[in-house]
Amino acid sequence: MEKITSLAKRRGFVFQSSEIYGGQNGAWDYGPLGIELKNRIAGAWWKEMTRLHDNIAGLDAAILMHPRTWEASGHVENFTDPLVDCKKCKSRFRADMIPQENLAAKKCPDCGGELTDTRKFNLMFKSHIGPAEDTASVIYLRPETAQGIYVNYKNIIQSNRMKIPFGIAQIGKAFRNEIVTKNFIFRTCEFEQMEMQYFVKPGTDEEWFNEWRKQRWAYYEKLGVKMDHLRWHQHGKDELAHYAKDAYDIEYLFPMGWRELEGVHNRTDYDLGRHAQFSGKDMQYIDQDAGSERYIPYIIETSAGLTRNVLMILCDAYDEEQVAEKGNDDDWRTVLRFHPDLAPVTAAILPLMKKDGLAEMAQDIRKELQDDYATDYDQSGAIGRRYRRQDEAGTPFCITVDYQSKDDNTVTLRFRDSMEQVRVPRAELAARLKQEIKGYKRIK
Ligand code: GAP
Repeated sequence: MEKITSLAKRRGFVFQSSEIYGGQNGAWDYGPLGIELKNRIAGAWWKEMTRLHDNIAGLDAAILMHPRTWEASGHVENFTDPLVDCKKCKSRFRADMIPQENLAAKKCPDCGGELTDTRKFNLMFKSHIGPAEDTASVIYLRPETAQGIYVNYKNIIQSNRMKIPFGIAQIGKAFRNEIVTKNFIFRTCEFEQMEMQYFVKPGTDEEWFNEWRKQRWAYYEKLGVKMDHLRWHQHGKDELAHYAKDAYDIEYLFPMGWRELEGVHNRTDYDLGRHAQFSGKDMQYIDQDAGSERYIPYIIETSAGLTRNVLMILCDAYDEEQVAEKGNDDDWRTVLRFHPDLAPVTAAILPLMKKDGLAEMAQDIRKELQDDYATDYDQSGAIGRRYRRQDEAGTPFCITVDYQSKDDNTVTLRFRDSMEQVRVPRAELAARLKQEIKGYKRIK
């Protein structure tokens, strides 16, 4: 993880938030390569969950919601972690994350000082809206994007004439006052989620739950993730969230071990039922195709962390490979083996020399490709070093313009994974890239 964190900073994927002030715990900034990677991951998910389904609609709901939302959802009452403090060193721990013998003996795992009793700590960030700081002005930062979908479900049925079963997908920020925020961007206080809520007829929920488990597993396979680094974990009775009848996590083998990447939850009619109760509005679906039968739909939720997916993709792509045996640093290369659909830069255009018209030709090629592909242009340093820089950024293709290019209008296409190079006529470059991306298979 240290290597990935340091590469992420060095190459501009992720920076510590407010670093000049010593950093802000639980918050991170996405740099030029990081935002491209995050956008591509979000784009792949959005395509998978909306464009490839004719019955899933998109939504972008506000982060700030009426505070009654969080009473109805059960978050005010139940969204808590067990917390203990050390009276001596003032460290704060999640009671379920320290050794049980420390908890039983009330002994701080860091300094041996006395621990407080365990108390419930609500993870929602609370603030006030408007000029008065009274109970009437309380507002929360949403701890999950899902509730924005539930409160809009009737709007979407009406505006888009949706019929059950149907889904609503959303990507957006969520906030939790996490007690433990280690492991880089794995668990943070400000993060992004990619959630889809699928509304189904009660009684069909288990079938749809299994179907969505299948689909979400197949999605990671399609992204080219190492499938032996993924596994399912079913929630035991004591792990289930207050709204869930059944839940499975897709776990990924991160450098610190197996951890949750995404959850698939059967939330039953809990959320819509509670919103009906708290708002006084009718949340029933009227099934016109079944004699106007009325019911509160069950909800199958697929909930993935976008920022956690960024970390997963970085870990999954990271590789160090020996490429020579000269006995110096250059024998090894660091390479990020991103799927070309996710790579922040698809193709780098590199003139062998700045002079003799090579730079101009390379710039022309860049302009030709720019509309369809994320490109980079680099003319400084030895060509070998430039390849290494692109390997480290995860750029799958390098296009080199050399003296032969001027003679016969061909360029060198270099593949990141195999480091193979082939000669390609300039006129065929765009089509060749398209073909290589479509047929991409990870070799390591
Ligand atoms: N709507 C259901 C829900 O929010 P969750 O299991 O609490 O369920 C879903 O969160 C996903 O959101 C997790 O699998 C994880 O990927 C991501 N996530 C949750 N808390 C996070 C945090 N503090 N930092 C980063 N990602 C987080």
